[in-house]
Amino acid sequence: MDIFVVEGGKKLNGSITVGGAKNAAVAIIPAAILSGDVCTIENLPTISDVNVISQILVQLGAKVNKLSESVIEIDARNMDCCQVSQELAKNMRASYYMLGALLGRFGRARVPMPGGCYFGVRPIDQHLKGFEALGAKTGLRDGVISLTAEGGLKGACVPLDVVSVGATINIMLAAVRAEGLTVIEHAAKEPHIVDLANFLNSMGADVRGAGTDVIKIRGVKKMHGATYSIIPDQIEAGTYMIAAAATGGDVTINNIIPKHMESISKKLMEMGVEIYEYDESIRVTRSGDLKACNVTTMPHPGFPTDMQPQMAAAMAIARGTSSITEGVWENRFQYVAELKKLGVQAEVQGRVATFVGVDHLKGGHVKATDLRGGAAMVVAALVAEGETAISEIYHIERGYEQLIDKLVGVGACIHRKTVSDDFK
Ligand code: EPZ
Repeated sequence: MDIFVVEGGKKLNGSITVGGAKNAAVAIIPAAILSGDVCTIENLPTISDVNVISQILVQLGAKVNKLSESVIEIDARNMDCCQVSQELAKNMRASYYMLGALLGRFGRARVPMPGGCYFGVRPIDQHLKGFEALGAKTGLRDGVISLTAEGGLKGACVPLDVVSVGATINIMLAAVRAEGLTVIEHAAKEPHIVDLANFLNSMGADVRGAGTDVIKIRGVKKMHGATYSIIPDQIEAGTYMIAAAATGGDVTINNIIPKHMESISKKLMEMGVEIYEYDESIRVTRSGDLKACNVTTMPHPGFPTDMQPQMAAAMAIARGTSSITEGVWENRFQYVAELKKLGVQAEVQGRVATFVGVDHLKGGHVKATDLRGGAAMVVAALVAEGETAISEIYHIERGYEQLIDKLVGVGACIHRKTVSDDFK
């Protein structure tokens, strides 16, 4: 297996360019099949989740050509299969976007229950509620979700009971080809919801209100191919902002949308970090001590749950006691036990984690418990004195492109190493 080896204690200095947003890419690639035509998707991140979702399209009969590192062409004209394989579905959460995309295109879908990071129970009742409201029959047998809409899909009002990114996306995917008007109430407002709506509209769909909590989708009979460039990754950018702040460095992060970074910038400024915003970049620098702060994660525009583990790594060395209240997932603190191995003083009680800042972290051996938990290990290892080995890095590589190159480019000492599978 491969691990990351980090020699910590170096201030990051220089500039990093972020890639396209993972959570937009994994929705937009399935959405491309709705056109029944050829689409070109640009600014894709080079991460394993994008490879897996592309492989799912190939398995379903689409042609996917890689035009360059960050551009693919999807030819969905001759697709014939509506069943996603267990092997591919279990690798990622977003495989379930094939439910909405296949239902919208063919009126039927069979997709195994998805994999992805474990944060306690991850129900999909709101997705199914939406599909049923549009007239689909839903079933679950031997771990495979099946959807059929023999008479075609019909627009409907779908008031979501919880604000769900996945359910909002899946219902949008199914509704663009349904007959009549669909209204999603209590919709999620994340930047990637808006990005998906813009992509769907560029293929001829009629989606309005994305980015607010009511999205209206008037179904269209025909869609067409399009060329579309994905938004920058808010969470990748935020992770490097925190790495710069935690190491006391001075880093400019390029290819970002400053508006998407506001909730993260605000908290870092509260911690004593200096932030300078430009049109498409942001500079993060710190000279004084980090100050403690409290964070509660919320759906957008609140502080993103996908940033809380990285924030914890910064809180670990802040002056005073900080806390994180997790407002989205029931169990997203598995990573805290790993951070403690580096000298982090923390306690978890239910959905609240408390961090008492210490002067120094020390290197050790930790594992990535999940994607963002893994990113927190990288930030903590960059701060810690001495060497840290991070195992189970496949979690990290699902969502961070060229992490080593980008960090080495700003002065970090990090490399990849192959070790035996029983490495302890
Ligand atoms: C997306 O997951 C992201 N994944 C997650 O990012 C992110 O943490 C999450 O949104 C919240 O921002 C992708 O985009 C692929 P939800 P998703 O449906 O869609 C409950 C990362 O690190 N819920 O918004 O699965 C659910 O239990 C990943 O990049 C229901 O009760 O999240 C949770 O408490 C990890 N019923 C809350 O809603 C449902 O049917 C939000 O979940 C659906 C969700």
